[in-house]
Amino acid sequence: MLDIDFVRSNFPAFSEPSLEGQAFFENAGGSYTCGQVIDRLTRTYRSRKVQPYAPYAASQLAGAEMDEARSRLAKLMGVETDELSFGPSTTQNTYVLAQAFRQFMSPGEAIIVTNQDHEANTGPWRQLANKGIVVREWKVNAETGHLDTDDLEDLLDEKVRLVCFPHCSNVVGEINPVLEITALCHAAGAFVCVDGVSYAPHGFVDVGNLGPDIYLFSSYKTYGPHQGIMVIRRNLGQLLPNQGHYFNAGTLYKRFTPAGPDHAQVAACAGMVDYMEALGAHHGVSVGGVHDLMRAHEVALLQPLLDAVKDRNSVRLIGPSEAASRAPTVALALNRPGEEVAADLAQHGVMCGGGDFYAVRALEAMGVDMHKGVLRLSFVHYTSEAEVTKAIEALDAVL
Ligand SMILES: Cc1ncc(COP(=O)(O)O)c(C=O)c1O
Repeated sequence: MLDIDFVRSNFPAFSEPSLEGQAFFENAGGSYTCGQVIDRLTRTYRSRKVQPYAPYAASQLAGAEMDEARSRLAKLMGVETDELSFGPSTTQNTYVLAQAFRQFMSPGEAIIVTNQDHEANTGPWRQLANKGIVVREWKVNAETGHLDTDDLEDLLDEKVRLVCFPHCSNVVGEINPVLEITALCHAAGAFVCVDGVSYAPHGFVDVGNLGPDIYLFSSYKTYGPHQGIMVIRRNLGQLLPNQGHYFNAGTLYKRFTPAGPDHAQVAACAGMVDYMEALGAHHGVSVGGVHDLMRAHEVALLQPLLDAVKDRNSVRLIGPSEAASRAPTVALALNRPGEEVAADLAQHGVMCGGGDFYAVRALEAMGVDMHKGVLRLSFVHYTSEAEVTKAIEALDAVL
């Protein structure tokens, strides 16, 4: 069982007086930062904030820490060190990748996108239509928000070069079977790009085992600094045209990150691995075991929240009502604007938000009134049972 007191002792926000008494339920927007990351960031700014990789001590330390972040994260995710790269955000990364595919593909070839994704993993790809690329949409079920793999099979043929879908949507919350979908796409000869932004906060995955060619997530939602982290498997990374400076084309992790790296934040990402390892050591489990511990805690806390809302007349729960099949990212369509309800919840010490969360296509496809949007409550493994109870009581008071 997850030792929640130990978990929370790793996050300075839980002992921050200005946040006392407020339960945080906007984690899908961005998580609290673990102490290990804050310490590394502070250390860089105090003592290593110099151009890295030069032949003097502070610079060597700065460069080594950036390399450490890349290699330890890659190991955690079951890929080679140079298959992992850092960009300013996931959205920036997908726009760069889409540009690479624009140059790689020929008119008449096709890509598949979903209407379940956050705009970051659908809009940039759809723009390829301007260059004669055929864009096919894998559509959600209008009632449940579910993506059915049978529908994907109907869209796949020899023209398809790439399939883009989310590991889990930031409003539907249902966990998509990445392994199965990837196998299907690969069998049809297509590459796969998975947006893992909404899943990664609930446990780092072994991308090597799962199989996608691209896996994206944002470290400001996984207890780290504001970066977009991108795994691109070697085969695809070498095939796609280089998007960076020509003289860096031989270095895989520089090929799709044209922006100069934020040295301090890249280095601080090693703190996320420190934290995962600390969790593992404290509980006597491997990093894979940490994922399972986090998920078990979340599922146990999530079910009562789902049960409390799913049968209310004034509430439409978006996505599944069984905790085991979803992330604890719970969107509710209500009879008044989500943002207004979020403001009411703030009065009860619950921090969350309302709106469309850039999942406009998914909410529209499900017939949600876009003037009202949804209320979204999202939590992670550091959330306590008492906080979930507080959220349920606050919902009771305001709905
Ligand atoms: C599922 C999902 N994908 C992509 C993004 C975009 O990430 P970034 O802010 O790093 O561009 C978000 C941000 O909220 C998201 O929730």
